[in-house]
Amino acid sequence: MQTHEIRERFINHFVNSGHTEVPSAPLILDDPTLLFVNAGMVPFKPYFLGQQNPPFANGTATSIQKCVRTLDIDEVGITTRHNTFFQMAGNFSFGQYFKEGAITHAWTLLTDPVDEGGFGLDPERLWVTVFLDDDEAADIWHRKLGVPKDRIQRLGMADNYWSMGIPGPCGPCSEIYYDRGPEYGKDGGPVVDDTRYMEIWNLVFMENRRGEGTGKDNFEILGPLPKKNIDTGLGIERVACILQGVDNVYETDLLRPVIDVAEKLTGSPYGKDHDSDIRFRVIADHSRTGMMLILDGVTPGNEGRGYILRRLLRRIIRSARLLGATGATMEKFMTTIMDTMTPSYPEIASSRERIIKTAVAEEKAFLRTLESGTHLFEDALGAAKEKGQTTLSGDKAFTLHDTYGFPIDLTLEMAHEAGLEVDREGFNALMAEQKARAKADNRAKKHGGADLSVYREFVDGHPTRFTGYGNLTDQATVLGLVHDGTKLTHAGQGKQVEVILDTTPMYAEAGGQLGDRGTIRVGDTVLDVTDVQKIGKKLWVHKAVVTNGEIGVGDTAVAEVDKKWRHAARQAHSATHLIHAALRQILGPTAVQAGSMNKPGYLRFDFNYTEQLSAEQLQQIETVTNEAVDVDWQVNTIETTLEEAKAMGAMALFGENYGHNVRVVEIGGPFSMELCGGTHVDHSSQIGPVAVLGESSVGSGVRRIEAYSGLESFGYLSKERALAEGLASSMKAPTDELPDRIAALTEKLKAAEKQIAEFKKQQLQQQAGTFVDDASTVGAFTVIAEKLEGLGGGELRQLATDLKNRLGDVPGVVVLGSDDGGKAPFVVGVTAEGIARGVKAGDMVKLVSRHVNGRGGGKPDMAQGQGTDAGGFDAAFTAVTDDLATR
Ligand code: ALA
Repeated sequence: MQTHEIRERFINHFVNSGHTEVPSAPLILDDPTLLFVNAGMVPFKPYFLGQQNPPFANGTATSIQKCVRTLDIDEVGITTRHNTFFQMAGNFSFGQYFKEGAITHAWTLLTDPVDEGGFGLDPERLWVTVFLDDDEAADIWHRKLGVPKDRIQRLGMADNYWSMGIPGPCGPCSEIYYDRGPEYGKDGGPVVDDTRYMEIWNLVFMENRRGEGTGKDNFEILGPLPKKNIDTGLGIERVACILQGVDNVYETDLLRPVIDVAEKLTGSPYGKDHDSDIRFRVIADHSRTGMMLILDGVTPGNEGRGYILRRLLRRIIRSARLLGATGATMEKFMTTIMDTMTPSYPEIASSRERIIKTAVAEEKAFLRTLESGTHLFEDALGAAKEKGQTTLSGDKAFTLHDTYGFPIDLTLEMAHEAGLEVDREGFNALMAEQKARAKADNRAKKHGGADLSVYREFVDGHPTRFTGYGNLTDQATVLGLVHDGTKLTHAGQGKQVEVILDTTPMYAEAGGQLGDRGTIRVGDTVLDVTDVQKIGKKLWVHKAVVTNGEIGVGDTAVAEVDKKWRHAARQAHSATHLIHAALRQILGPTAVQAGSMNKPGYLRFDFNYTEQLSAEQLQQIETVTNEAVDVDWQVNTIETTLEEAKAMGAMALFGENYGHNVRVVEIGGPFSMELCGGTHVDHSSQIGPVAVLGESSVGSGVRRIEAYSGLESFGYLSKERALAEGLASSMKAPTDELPDRIAALTEKLKAAEKQIAEFKKQQLQQQAGTFVDDASTVGAFTVIAEKLEGLGGGELRQLATDLKNRLGDVPGVVVLGSDDGGKAPFVVGVTAEGIARGVKAGDMVKLVSRHVNGRGGGKPDMAQGQGTDAGGFDAAFTAVTDDLATR
């Protein structure tokens, strides 16, 4: 039974009994704690926790969720059942049926005969496990479905109690195993051998909430969920392995074709050698995972999701090399896996080119360095072995990473294959150093390179109280003054100084929004604030210039934000949120935020996307954004916990370290909800017009959209209008006719240029006649030497060919030079008779070159060159005739 059919049967079974079919969520969800969706229940989490009501008719649902788990990446190809990408088929009950319903459904689908819609598995081969004291489940298996007691085994927390590994819903589970027969291992059921007895379906009785903790069994259970729920997960690829009678999950209908292609590309056979087989399976498994990740918008990179993808792709490439491939292989692997996966994931079809481009670019990049990196690795290996060492230094591993782009895991793998350890600690230390350096560089840039230790006492003792969400002016005490990393007690007129206040209404740069501008006053003394930066998360540093008078530590001051600045800054930041929301509405959820910057009147927003946006998409984004402005939504800010914010559906940046308490900015409810500490308008209409400037690429797989907001947009649009009107007046046409007029004009211009070229040609032909008439005789040769105006090399050549033909079979030499606006092209043609008498066009060109400061070359019958001094042609022609006269 083909995988595609297994999927269909699963869905049909549950839809027929009233479950709502829910399409797979993308592999990436807006959850900073989750790298990839790794279980079928992830998109349903808020329903289990009772945070949202499930929107399904009978309170039940079914799905086949794309999952990626890379924790077991080293097991791939070695065991029979580890896939980094897999499809988890599940049925979910939110407060509806519980243990008995779940167990009965699973059993029926697995054992019903094939012609009745089931999978037709032999009930005698099925084993089950239940959680230690779960007599209720054991009873259902035995009494209701007749599973003999000796095929019902009990396991503890680590195996039969399921949670996501983080706080969330959890509960005891019951797992179903298939006995693959004695050739796969020992008797005794899944507690003895989990290779022979392959787990195919996990039924989770989701009834509790899990707290913080680690691992599979070291956490607190906080209490019961509002309702008893069911979450199940059947491994589609494992069922396929069984139903297709193949040895392992890499040989099913979806992956085997990749192995076949790999055999052809590498010249190695599959199924002959243990180590080679592992490599074949790695290629098949990783090709699919890589492809599905790119499909969902991941691009190779050095961190987070991008790193995982990079590692997978590089493992494919290396495995193929080890199997004997010498050239590029990625495109073939990708097309093969896309072919097998498209029936279940039709959206692949429209992304084929993008997927291939992304994977092949990574292959090219890696192949460029693989060889030199491998040399370095082998040298280091040889040296270590010679010295009797068993460890590769962290230094070498770091160079391999930093200079050759070897993911550390690749170095670990290669070292492991060679029987060597890697000094991981040394490597980590160097990586940390590099990161710290980059961070310090960044910080130093923002703080003028100052030593940050001077701020320490303030950070520890007096964190700044920020009042700027509500106030634009506030009273404050001057806690400190710093200049060039040194504390001051006073600062006088003209002095650049960093001011530390106990309280401030001024926003410090964060979350992409630039710091406020404003003033600090002490009596009559005024300081202009030119920037506000944060040290750590708690200390605001105002960079200011004392414009008059003096400021001293301990003074009472009034800090005031520049209202205009703040107004435009809020507009830009709120516009950024709208653009983000519009972008996702138009491009889909894979357009994940990668960074942003906004300041009064302007914003830019970076996001993961591999294709250039079309003009139409940009226009749609702009329209959706401005419509959201026009609706005049209330902008709400909500202070809540990270958990709650996520449950509300607020978007967060992946990899960002949010604290427990967060701030959610909501514009139009679900339209835009982001974790954000920035300052925003109160109503969306206060943003004013938003004008999209355009989009561009910033690095591989990341694009940038730029826009103006508020009055800046107006200024921009008005300038554009003035431009269009200027054009219209010079074209003497209304603006909306400009495109047609310009197109017509361009056409006309093209036609005119063509005509001119035609005239020129005719003129040349006429001239050619007079040139032949004016030809001189030099010794045995007929010579035409002419200087022309404004002809390019191509035209000269044409003319020279014509003249040569006209000269016919006399020994003739044609020399043409042209004064072509600063350039001096020239051509020499020699007739066959001329060549017979020893004249070569190439030699003549060299002769001419000397006089016009040029160079050139060609064949004996025709050669050409280019100089810069057309004034030298007369002398050049004399040199040619002189030369010919001596022959
Ligand atoms: N959520 C369960 C699992 O992932 C079904 O195994």
